[in-house]
Amino acid sequence: MAETFRIGLLGHGTVGSAFEALLAERADAFVPITGMRPEISGVLTRSRGDFEEILANADLVVELIGGIEPARDYVLRAMRAGRHVVSANKQLLSQYGEELWACAREHGVQLRFEGAVAGVVPVIRVLQESLAATRVERIHGIVNGTTNYILTEMASRGLSYDEALRQAQELGYAEADPTDDVTGRDAAAKMAILARLAFSTPVHLDQVVYEGIEHLTGEDMEYAKDLGLGLKLIGTAERVDAGISVRVHPAFLYPGHPLASIHGPFNAVTLESDTITEVTLSGPGAGGPQTATAVLGDVVSAMIPPASTPETTEALTVVNDIESAFYLHMEVADRPGVLAQVAELLGMQGASIKSVVQQGLGHDARLVMILHPLPESRFYAAVHLIGQLDFMRSSPRAIRVIEEEFI
Ligand SMILES: NC(=O)c1ccc[n+]([C@@H]2O[C@H](COP(=O)([O-])OP(=O)(O)OC[C@H]3O[C@@H](n4cnc5c(N)ncnc54)[C@H](OP(=O)(O)O)[C@@H]3O)[C@@H](O)[C@H]2O)c1
Repeated sequence: MAETFRIGLLGHGTVGSAFEALLAERADAFVPITGMRPEISGVLTRSRGDFEEILANADLVVELIGGIEPARDYVLRAMRAGRHVVSANKQLLSQYGEELWACAREHGVQLRFEGAVAGVVPVIRVLQESLAATRVERIHGIVNGTTNYILTEMASRGLSYDEALRQAQELGYAEADPTDDVTGRDAAAKMAILARLAFSTPVHLDQVVYEGIEHLTGEDMEYAKDLGLGLKLIGTAERVDAGISVRVHPAFLYPGHPLASIHGPFNAVTLESDTITEVTLSGPGAGGPQTATAVLGDVVSAMIPPASTPETTEALTVVNDIESAFYLHMEVADRPGVLAQVAELLGMQGASIKSVVQQGLGHDARLVMILHPLPESRFYAAVHLIGQLDFMRSSPRAIRVIEEEFI
C-alpha cells in the first residue's frame, strides 16, 4: 500500500471541484512516480470545513478560494506551519507576492502557482526552470481568454462589443461582472507575475499600466482587416533603458506574429531573448478542468524531489504505421482518364481526396492533391502503384500534412 499524501483543499468552486474530480481520476498514476498516493484530506468552503483542522491533517494546502482575504491569511498560516502551498490566485500573487515568497523562503516550503497565469499553459515553470539560463528581454502575452474571445468574435463575425460580450457571458467565457477582464486588470495581474519572474525584481499590480477593450468599435476591426492586421489585447513586459515596462493594452499585430493566430478563449505567451530568439507557449487559458490540470501538476511537482528521472509506469507500444493526411504531387501526361485511374488506386487503399488542383504544363499536367488521413502503409502502397502507371512523367512526391485539429 502506498503512503497517502494528504491535500487540504481550500475552495470548492469551478476549479476546486474540477481539481477533486481530476485527482480522483489520476491519483493512482502518481504512485510509481512519487511513492505516495495523493488524496484530499479536507475541504473548506464558506459553509463547510474548519481551517485549523484541515491544516493539521494536510501535507500540502491547495488554495482555490480567490481574492485577497481570507486566502492570504490561510496561505501564510499554511506555510508558517511548514506546508507546501499551491494556488491559482493571480490577484493575491500580484499584490502580496513578495510577502508570500519571503514566507515560503523563511519556512523552507514551496509556493507553486502555475494555474495563476494562462491556465494550463506552463509558462511559470518554463520561466523558472527551462529558461532559467537565459536573460528574458521581453514577454508578450494574450493572457485573458475572455477579451480574446470578444475580439475574435468582433473581428470574424462583425459583432459589436456589447453583442460579443453578451455571447461570451452566455457561453461561460465571461463572468456576470466582467469588469476585471474587459478593463485589462486581470491581464495586468498576470503580467505583473510574469514580469516578477522574468526580471527577478518586485512588480506590484499597481505598477502595471492597463487599458481595456471596452472602447473598441467595429470600425477598429474594419481597419485591422483592411490592413491585414489582427487586433488583440496584449500584455507586454520588457526591459527598457531605465528599467522595465509592464503594460496591457489593445494592439494591432502583423499576421506573422505568433500571437496573431491565437483566437477565441485561448491564451499564449511569447518569451524573447537574444539567445532563444522567441519561444511561444499557447493553450486554454481558463476553465475548471484546464486550470485544475495546472494545479495538480504543481501538487505532483511539490511531492517529488527535484530533477526526477523518467519512470516507466506503463508498457506502451511504439507504433509506426500511424494515420496521416498527405499532400500528393504528380507530373502526368495530359490525357483523358488520368485522374480517374489515380483516384481508383487511391480508393482501393481507402484514401479519400480532400482537394485536387490540376495545372496544364504543355502536353503534360501537374496534379496536386490533399488526402484525408489514412494509415501511412496504405497510402504508400497506393503511391507505389501510381508510380508504375505509364502516364507518370516522374515519381510522385508525397509530404505529410498536419491537420489544424488538435486532440
Ligand atoms: N475559473 C477559472 O477558469 C480560473 C482560471 C484560472 C485561475 N482561477 C483562479 O482559481 C481560483 C478559484 O476560482 P474559481 O473560479 O474556482 O472560484 P469560485 O468558483 O468562485 O469558487 C470559490 C470557492 O471558494 C470558496 N470560498 C469563497 N470565500 C470563502 C471563504 N471566505 N472561506 C472559505 N471558502 C470560501 C467558495 O465557497 P462556496 O462554495 O461556499 O461558495 C467556493 O467553493 C481563483 O483564484 C481564480 O482566480 C480560476
